Amino acid sequence: MDKKMVLGVSFGRKMGNTDVMIKTALMECEKAGYAVRFIRADDLDIRPCTGCISCVVGMTTGRGKGGCPIQDDFHILDEALMACDAVIVGSPTYVLSPTGRFKTVCDRIGPSHDITFRKATYDEGLAAGKPAEQLPDTRSFKKRVGALVSVGGAMTKNWLSFMLPTMYEFTMSMGIDVIDMHEYHGAMAFEHVLGNTAQMERMRQVGRHIAEALAAETEEERTRWRGEEEGVCPVCHCDMLTVSKDRRSVECPVCGIRGAFEVRDGRLEVRFSAAEQQRSRLHWDGKLEHSTEIKTQAVGPGQIPDLKALKAPYIGYAE
Ligand SMILES: Cc1cc2nc3c(=O)[nH]c(=O)nc-3n(C[C@H](O)[C@H](O)[C@H](O)COP(=O)(O)O)c2cc1C
Repeated sequence: MDKKMVLGVSFGRKMGNTDVMIKTALMECEKAGYAVRFIRADDLDIRPCTGCISCVVGMTTGRGKGGCPIQDDFHILDEALMACDAVIVGSPTYVLSPTGRFKTVCDRIGPSHDITFRKATYDEGLAAGKPAEQLPDTRSFKKRVGALVSVGGAMTKNWLSFMLPTMYEFTMSMGIDVIDMHEYHGAMAFEHVLGNTAQMERMRQVGRHIAEALAAETEEERTRWRGEEEGVCPVCHCDMLTVSKDRRSVECPVCGIRGAFEVRDGRLEVRFSAAEQQRSRLHWDGKLEHSTEIKTQAVGPGQIPDLKALKAPYIGYAE
């Protein structure tokens, strides 16, 4: 049997901090007996999603399998993602968030790679007797684990505020189970991460955690959280919260689930019920909720009879 493969994806500069950190984790995975592959996103010509939604429309109508009409290098990353069993993704912080290219790549991954869309398309196509090449890639449904690595030059952690929550966009639609995440802030206080022994050791640990999860014999052990902090949300382990308009509840912006809160001894206690946790968009049920709402409520063309006339005054206006 082929070795399981760990894919490392860096959105950093060539041989910069992120590159070396991701490679450090990969070296540990290789030591544990896994095949590894490294991709620097900036080496690929990956163009922005144009919003044509042919990926989703193709899947919901049964005419497509989640493909994208843009002809560029995305297929290189896509094939590596399909082939891998684990992914370790790292991005530098650019203005509080991952880089622009990170977002570009995430837009190309989802919703075209959403496992609930792909599975329904696969099952319906199979039942209709379609040949394998017209069905979504069966590797889309492989169980994978992942780790997220955020790198920021700033000395103050809050200059990386949107990093880890946003980085879930990379793993979410493919249903990759994130089992560890790490944030390195203060990177500019070191010439290079290679001079920071604590960070280098933590990245070796990320690699060991991924290797451990790949070797797990039970689902519970495979998906066990190995990050240093539990975080406020028990599903994504992030600390970010959205406060509801009526100020009576909170929501995890990564998972899209509602929680109750109280202040006990001056400490904010947040509780997400088991049912809410189950409907996190990081889990199948949460994703299915969304793909179902799109399939049942999104409307096709031809609903507004005079749309062409209504659009006319806007065509070319003030351009
Ligand atoms: C355009 C730009 C914006 C940046 N904004 C932030 C920021 O908001 N917070 C932060 O911590 N670092 C910020 N940085 C610093 C980078 O995150 C830092 O240099 C990082 O180490 C680069 O990663 P690399 O060495 O892997 O390329 C910014 C850098 C650039 C180029």
